Amino acid sequence: MNESSDAARNSQADLYLVGAGILFPEHLTVQTIEILENCQRICTNVPETRLAALPKEIREKCVCLWPLYKDNRKRIDNYRDVIDAVVDIVREHRPSAWMTPGHPFVFDSVSQKLLGKAREFGWTAQIVPGISSLDTLLAQIPYDPCYGLVVHEATALVRDKIPLISSLATVLFQPSIFGSDLTHHSRQYAGPSLRDLSAHLLQFYPPQHKCALVYSALSENDDARTVWEALGKLDSISFDSLRGSTLFIPPVR
Ligand SMILES: C[S@@+](CC[C@H](N)C(=O)[O-])C[C@H]1O[C@@H](n2cnc3c(N)ncnc32)[C@H](O)[C@@H]1O
Repeated sequence: MNESSDAARNSQADLYLVGAGILFPEHLTVQTIEILENCQRICTNVPETRLAALPKEIREKCVCLWPLYKDNRKRIDNYRDVIDAVVDIVREHRPSAWMTPGHPFVFDSVSQKLLGKAREFGWTAQIVPGISSLDTLLAQIPYDPCYGLVVHEATALVRDKIPLISSLATVLFQPSIFGSDLTHHSRQYAGPSLRDLSAHLLQFYPPQHKCALVYSALSENDDARTVWEALGKLDSISFDSLRGSTLFIPPVR
């Protein structure tokens, strides 16, 4: 055991909110691995097939909650079941971890609510940074946010009529489930209409301005994609290009 893992152990939390990163397991940080080694249970929404890539001693402690994300059910109801399952495990086994893709505090309402539960039950909680899809997007484009960057959730942007500034880049999460409050992981889901999203964006950016649908690889066998399209044609983009992606709009110069 080295000095840094001794330090992690000395300041032990009851519940760790950790990020699995995007490329899995390569994006797991040394800090996260040390914490996972020290946890009694690791609750996660990383699917079982992907957990097989973990070392045996970590994988054996994983409780895969992926089956609780029921297809075509309201996401909020699925999240509630997942939170209840994690709370039940943390009651019995401490320290435990909640391991979720990307960074645990980038667009993850389960992590936010678990932090609230920890406060409610008097548990110490620690948010452990992970590599987010925001990081992989910035590397993939590439774009340095020193030139300005606004980040929103696509559906909330339109619903709340949030204005944008065309001299700044905009990143929109969850365009592939735009306008829906359901869980969609079936291959039968045909994807959303982006008409209202496109209409909102065209109030601030010109129609010929190119945006990118960015998808970062999840494993060595997966392919990253970056699909450029004019904002005025966003609604005609195929769901194969949209699936699992994040929308990047560069600044108008
Ligand atoms: C519920 S959020 C979770 C984000 C995650 N916590 C993170 O740090 O990346 C899901 C959204 O993150 C983005 N995302 C997740 N994985 C991605 C990937 N591999 N490539 C591009 N965007 C991704 C998409 O916008 C997706 O709809």
